[in-house]
Amino acid sequence: MTRRIVRTGIQLGVLTFIVFLLVFFLDNRYRVLPQSIHNHLPSHHEGLIITDITVNTCSSLNPLSTCKLDQDKWHRIEKDLYLNTGWVSKAYVHIKRKREEDLTDEDRVIIDVRIGKMDPAMNEKSQAAEKWESRPAGIWLKRSAKRHATDSKKAVTAVDVLFGSDAVDPRPGWELIQPTALLLDTGSGSKDARLSIRRGPVHKLEPPVPRIGKDGKFKIMQVSDLHLSTGLGVCRDPEPKGANGGRCDADPRTLEFVERVLDEENPDMVVLSGDQVNGETAPDAQSAIFKIVQILAERGKPWAAIFGNHDDEGSLSRLNQMSLYNSLPFSLSEAGPNTIEGVGNYFVEVRAHGSKHSALTLYFLDTHSYSPDEKRYEGYDWIKLKQINWFKTTAQSLKESHSHYSHIHLDMAFIHIPLPEYGSTTNKFVGSMKEQISAPGFNSHFKDALVEEGIKVVSCGHDHANDYCMLSENESTKEGELWMCYAGGSGFGGYGGYDGYIRRLRVFEIDANQGRISTWKRLEYGDIAKRLDEQVIVDSGRVIPPQSN
Ligand SMILES: *[C@@H]1O[C@H](CO)[C@@H](O)[C@H](O)[C@H]1NC(C)=O
Repeated sequence: MTRRIVRTGIQLGVLTFIVFLLVFFLDNRYRVLPQSIHNHLPSHHEGLIITDITVNTCSSLNPLSTCKLDQDKWHRIEKDLYLNTGWVSKAYVHIKRKREEDLTDEDRVIIDVRIGKMDPAMNEKSQAAEKWESRPAGIWLKRSAKRHATDSKKAVTAVDVLFGSDAVDPRPGWELIQPTALLLDTGSGSKDARLSIRRGPVHKLEPPVPRIGKDGKFKIMQVSDLHLSTGLGVCRDPEPKGANGGRCDADPRTLEFVERVLDEENPDMVVLSGDQVNGETAPDAQSAIFKIVQILAERGKPWAAIFGNHDDEGSLSRLNQMSLYNSLPFSLSEAGPNTIEGVGNYFVEVRAHGSKHSALTLYFLDTHSYSPDEKRYEGYDWIKLKQINWFKTTAQSLKESHSHYSHIHLDMAFIHIPLPEYGSTTNKFVGSMKEQISAPGFNSHFKDALVEEGIKVVSCGHDHANDYCMLSENESTKEGELWMCYAGGSGFGGYGGYDGYIRRLRVFEIDANQGRISTWKRLEYGDIAKRLDEQVIVDSGRVIPPQSN
């Protein structure tokens, strides 16, 4: 009896060990996001010319395979073309590159790239001087002697890999090779790998200077919780149910919504208040980010972004995503000081019309992700003391320069995760509170700092189905001191639910001449032309209570 128990015990132990090993092995091998990808940032060095491109495929089952070609000759682009989902294969684009001044007369440089099964020459009418050369994965290269190509700035100077049938490349000088994805032995559905190339030198980007319009107005569109994926993404709780025969592609629908409101509202600036990327469905976060930046850049809209709790759950850390943001057109985003917690603690000055003075200051703070102390404080992380001190010091140091502005200077702040005070019991709010407020369990009192520094409005994202603005009043004077707003969730890749929640976004309109801030929301479905819950929240620089409540 005892021996049988012992034997069963040993068997169980061995079995558990095997299962553990198996899970450990599988988990490490097939994790969507290996560490190597976390550290990836496109490295497009200045002054380099691409002389060859190839694709190297190797077995993902062979632990000894590095899947790298001769490193003296080839540079590997650090993105597995199967996004680490290939059970048998991994594949990487490799490039040969040379400094322009090191090119010899024998060197040939790439002047064109196509992807397809057939030689592109078959479709060319005239007989070109250069022949197309075939490479693996359906790549065709047209190469030319160096002297022809570099003269004309036609030479390819950088190569990158993006994923998805909806991939776009918003970087100036870059061209996504369309319409075909790389031809790999197994398709990866809507996340197939595509090549993007740059011709000529890196374009120097001038950061935009946001400015109040001639009419004294400045409009900010706050787009929160886009939850974009690599590829089309999967719709969660779309409303109305069963529309379009139940067919719904998350990202195209999200972006179509944002594009429509961008065109109708024509804002002066866009704030992306976190969870732009739905990390777990974004094994290539860059492809997800490019989709929103493309629609902003093609409209020339300056944009400032902060991170939510999901942005860095994909392939890029906060720091790497911020470097990427910094390299993209019309970005106002900044990492902020590295001496305080978080990435993306910064401010943006909106200048007065026809003057160098700031009329409006926008503060951005990183609200991090999950609680570092789940036992004591469940849920989400909080704004740290050093961040609050940075905010106070910054606000105080700007006061002197702001005093030169001829009108009332206004200040607003944007965060991702709501502050604990968003859950106050007051009837002074406009909009709907459909879900429980998921603020941090620990109150670091950032709200008090906002009030002390005279910030009139703070707006967050995070809770997709909450879209209200709540008034905070001074306890003794009962005067309004701060409006705390939600943007509402805009993305179909994020949760909806909660009694038929319709995706939405928030607009703020600043009237600098009147010291006024108005706000309203726009809906994705239903009464789509309407300004929902339009209200003046600040007038003559003073926080004012709801007008009709
Ligand atoms: C409330 O108002 C009084 C009087 O203006 C002021 O002294 C006090 O600091 C305010 N309280 C807070 C929490 O701001």
